[in-house]
Amino acid sequence: MIGSGAREHALVRALQRDAEVFAAPGNAGIGIDAPVIPVDATDGAAVADLASELAVDLVVIGPEAPLVAGVADVVRDRGIACFGPSAQAARLEGSKAFAKEIMAAAGVPTARPVVATTVVQAEAALDELGSPYVVKDDGLAAGKGVVVTNVRGEALAHAEACIEAGSSVVIEEYLDGPEVSLFAVTDGINVVPLQPAQDFKRVGEGDTGPNTGGMGAYSPLDWAPAGLVDDVMRTVLQPTVDEMRRRGTPFAGLLYAGLALTSKGVRVVEFNARFGDPETQVVLARLESSLSELLLAAATGQLADSPPPEWSGDAAVTVVIAAEGYPQAPVTGGVITGVADADLLDRVDVLHAGTRVDGDQVVASGGRVLSVVGRGASLAEARVRAYAGVELIDLPGSHFRSDIAASGE
Ligand code: AMP
Ligand code: GLY
Repeated sequence: MIGSGAREHALVRALQRDAEVFAAPGNAGIGIDAPVIPVDATDGAAVADLASELAVDLVVIGPEAPLVAGVADVVRDRGIACFGPSAQAARLEGSKAFAKEIMAAAGVPTARPVVATTVVQAEAALDELGSPYVVKDDGLAAGKGVVVTNVRGEALAHAEACIEAGSSVVIEEYLDGPEVSLFAVTDGINVVPLQPAQDFKRVGEGDTGPNTGGMGAYSPLDWAPAGLVDDVMRTVLQPTVDEMRRRGTPFAGLLYAGLALTSKGVRVVEFNARFGDPETQVVLARLESSLSELLLAAATGQLADSPPPEWSGDAAVTVVIAAEGYPQAPVTGGVITGVADADLLDRVDVLHAGTRVDGDQVVASGGRVLSVVGRGASLAEARVRAYAGVELIDLPGSHFRSDIAASGE
């Protein structure tokens, strides 16, 4: 398992149900559950060397940066099965302009985009599409490259910053309606959807403040229309996978569709080329069948013969504990206490994100520090458990949203 966030911690725990797992580089919490080995996750040769040394059957790549850097290509070139798309295919996440091109070719519904490379073009696009303005850095930005605002000056300032930083900027139509994250596992031909989840991207209560990597999530979505997954399979996931294969750059791995359920129907907000964080924490909490077999089947082109995933009827909620100053300027080094007590609670899992061991203490080493997962027969019950876990944990200056899954929407 390559990576070091709470998503990877959730993947490690799910894979360990029936497999022996090594994690690299991991974090303080992953290190309690599995052997962790330091590695530069974006160095393909280093990852492939490590996989050979350990003689693993499968490498699972968690984050987007190694995928975009081609780590999966290097691992596969050494003859080792790898769950994660090639660098070419990961452009679905790595370039928003490329993703829009694929969607146009595949007839996948999405917000109408205008790509601008100069400030003059950006101004024209803002005026053409109107308010609310949606302005996106074309490259990878860890969920923080997007500004949605009614204020033209703010929209233009972000567009200028992206252009000055050397990137092009995508300005697009605003999508109304609730958002849904749907993950699908694919071997490049066959597509197997997982369960829908919703995440909370804004830092503040009531969806206020700047966008973050994600402050919490829940699954299932009882309010989602019946047939949503089938609809998205037919109109989004299968056509996208087919188009990527048609171009000679098959997408094999995890295709994450960020969707808006607008008044005009389902639209794609974005694609990601890997499991979402924190949605993975709640989706895997509900998975009853083998994750390792599913990912191995996808990595080896055998999904057609693989049994469909089985799901628990339970609900799961995760609440992210973030360091002081996150997302603008996270303060690292704070001492974390109470994790073991929270993890001992019934149907509560504390997953580590930005943590590291410092002497005999665990300290914060990143913006999102912990992801506390609660399970229960209902969403309300899962929510109570997750927050009971959060209450036992202390990190000075830290913050979390108290409204995750509060309205069930
Ligand atoms: P992205 O990085 O593309 O996922 O964008 C991050 C967040 O910005 C999304 O989850 C949405 O909440 C918001 N967003 C992105 N694109 C749009 C859009 N076209 N209309 C409304 N909100 C958007
Ligand atoms: N939860 C949003 C993401 O993983 O990009």
